[in-house]
Amino acid sequence: MKTCKTVAEFRAARAALPALGVVPTMGFLHEGHLSLVRRAKAECGAAAVTIFVNPTQFAPHEDFSRYPRALARDLELVEAAGADLVFAPDVSEMYPEGYDLRIEVGGVTSRLEGAVRPAHFSGVATVVAKLLNITQASRAYFGQKDAQQCVVIRKLARDLNLPCEIVVCPTVREADGLAMSSRNAYLSPEQRERATVLYRALSAAKARHEAGQTRAEALRAAIHDVLAETPEAGVDYVSVADPDTLEELDEVKDGALVSLAVRFGPTRLIDNFLL
Ligand code: PAF
Repeated sequence: MKTCKTVAEFRAARAALPALGVVPTMGFLHEGHLSLVRRAKAECGAAAVTIFVNPTQFAPHEDFSRYPRALARDLELVEAAGADLVFAPDVSEMYPEGYDLRIEVGGVTSRLEGAVRPAHFSGVATVVAKLLNITQASRAYFGQKDAQQCVVIRKLARDLNLPCEIVVCPTVREADGLAMSSRNAYLSPEQRERATVLYRALSAAKARHEAGQTRAEALRAAIHDVLAETPEAGVDYVSVADPDTLEELDEVKDGALVSLAVRFGPTRLIDNFLL
């Protein structure tokens, strides 16, 4: 496995590979990321992982400086998962002096996460466009846990005619249902235990739907009821939305996206189910 810090180095190494799948990450990798690396390798023959904590997707009050970083450990993990190439640039390589471009994806970015984190998806779209361009990957792999990010990136690729297929893979969960996330590392042992409420709340909505409930408001209410059992959980939003437009639904349809964002102290967790 080769690790590159500059675009020139990466491009030179990438030139030897006919097809490449890429897994863009911000590092502090977990089994969710590694499942994407294994799938990229199996489907494309060669896999690249990008490891870059992207400052432009964090608001000034967010956790950019304390975002967990563990490059040496990440490199060992991705090598064991079969990665061929890693791109781990410094901020100055991605955003050199004079850099001045941002991509704005409209519509779907104003809702859910976008309503709470207004500049977030512009930062994500910009860095992902740059990473896909740098890596020249034929497929890029993302986790369903960040459902809105997947919608935004699909739209980015479609609207910019990027020659890269966006592949969305299932959320990987801990044994008790908590979706894997680098931010789980912020949770105290008590918060970690209570954080299973996200999965339980989503499961309650799913069970109501499977029992025949088709009113979206009833599913939102079922989620709020479960969340209310854990007073430490600060609810940012609960949503039952169209999976493509992210518009809130009145009547639940197949494939509806049920999602929520919950705060435990300063740590914000998100999760979702597709019905
Ligand atoms: O999901 C992430 O880790 C990041 O948002 C991404 C896609 C790597 C862009 O920085």
